Amino acid sequence: MLRDIQSFWPTQTPGLYLILVSFVFYLIGLMVGRWLKRRIHVELGWTSHVFIASASIIVAARLIEVEFPGESAVGMLAAATATFPINALLRRFLWPLCGYPGEQARIPAFLPQVVAIMVFVFATFFGLAAFYHVTITGLLTGSGVIAIIIGLALQDTLGNIFAGFGLQAGRVYRVGDWLIVDGKHVEVVELNWRSTRFRNNDEVSFDIPNSQLAKATIVNLYFPSRRHAARVRLSVDHRVPPNEVKDAMFQAASAAPGVLRDPPVKVFLIDFAESAVQYEIKFWLMDGRVFPDIIDGVRTNVWYELNRRGIRLAFSTQQIELVRGALVTRRPETDLQLLASQPLFSSLDQIQLDRLALGSRRIRFGKGERIISQGDAGNSMFILAMGKAEVQVERDGRVQPVASLAAGDCFGEMSLLTGEPRSATVLAALDCEVLEIEQETIGILLREHPELAESLSETVVARRSATETQLASAPANGDGPGTDATKEGLLRRLRKFFQL
Ligand code: CMP
Repeated sequence: MLRDIQSFWPTQTPGLYLILVSFVFYLIGLMVGRWLKRRIHVELGWTSHVFIASASIIVAARLIEVEFPGESAVGMLAAATATFPINALLRRFLWPLCGYPGEQARIPAFLPQVVAIMVFVFATFFGLAAFYHVTITGLLTGSGVIAIIIGLALQDTLGNIFAGFGLQAGRVYRVGDWLIVDGKHVEVVELNWRSTRFRNNDEVSFDIPNSQLAKATIVNLYFPSRRHAARVRLSVDHRVPPNEVKDAMFQAASAAPGVLRDPPVKVFLIDFAESAVQYEIKFWLMDGRVFPDIIDGVRTNVWYELNRRGIRLAFSTQQIELVRGALVTRRPETDLQLLASQPLFSSLDQIQLDRLALGSRRIRFGKGERIISQGDAGNSMFILAMGKAEVQVERDGRVQPVASLAAGDCFGEMSLLTGEPRSATVLAALDCEVLEIEQETIGILLREHPELAESLSETVVARRSATETQLASAPANGDGPGTDATKEGLLRRLRKFFQL
């Protein structure tokens, strides 16, 4: 039986005695806390001090059998704040056993949060029972209203917690996955006991309660692997043969940045609509974050490729088109000027230049598109009429820029003259317009102007040596026809190739 403060300490100073004993316990608690923090690396915050202080007072009071005003409140505080050191110990010893926190965690990421809440709830109920003699059953049966309030409050919370466990156990998604939820493209940022946090492509975050997600249709783009397909639909003029359209779309989509080469792009004819044929391009990608950019790249490339081939995208039948003329802009005057200004063609007379202009065509490339791909067969050369281009060479798996081309520069002459595969990739660094001259046209000119062969060979030799200097290594094609890198060797090959 507890003694009253007055009767326990006849000298009327039991309060002082209680303070002294509590202080001793507090110091012991502090030492234990410091030892846990320094030696065992248990992370204890200021809340643990509140626990040590309140627990010291309660233990001291019980030990010396003293009662004091507010004892229940201090006891309640000790019970509630006990949650913090308990959770710190769980974080230090129990959760690491399950791989948490970390990529390989074998428990749902929010289980420690749920346990922390449960520890708090139990500690609080323990405090109520120990210091206020209130039991859970008493609390629930004593007041129907409280029971109803607690029941209703817990309904949603428990629903979210159980739904969260279900989503985790079923491995529906993980942090970092890209999903389609309600038709929206979103990345999973965090999973907690109540909800899942998402971020969309606009870097906007939002939460959806787990119970709502458990009922939603979720498409996980990153499961079973990050590789996933996307589709783009486009309508094309119904008069163009489908295989021609499919080939153009295939080339364009395959070259778009972010589109995987393997599995290859596929183009499906979807529907015959009014004056249009609908196509669907299916392509594969790895990174959901850049999904809108990839779609944009595919659509843009398709526009340029169709434009180069003179294929028209279909418009609504209500749209009256007042634009006249070919889609590929022909500018005969400027083309002629461009050809005449080329040092390469300085020996040509007006009739030959006219013929050259007629035998060439002006085509457009969008920024980032490949005008020439290294390794492809090439039977035409180009003059850059507008824009800028980058020449890149891939060797031993490394891609290196070797030159920049500006308006007026010619390129693609190497393959055209030697019949070798394209020696480099030429990328449009800006939107470009180029004049393409076919092998046949050049062949006729070479026969009429043998000196043209000489100046072209000089360009080829100079560029080859510039490329080698840039790459600072031995020529790539060990014993291919291109190894005869001298001007004379090249001329021999060129004459043979064009049967001059
Ligand atoms: P071709 O090999 O037909 O295709 C790639 C083209 O890139 C090549 O012809 C040249 O026209 C051009 N090229 C390659 N190396 C260089 C260089 N060092 N400087 C400028 N153009 C180059």
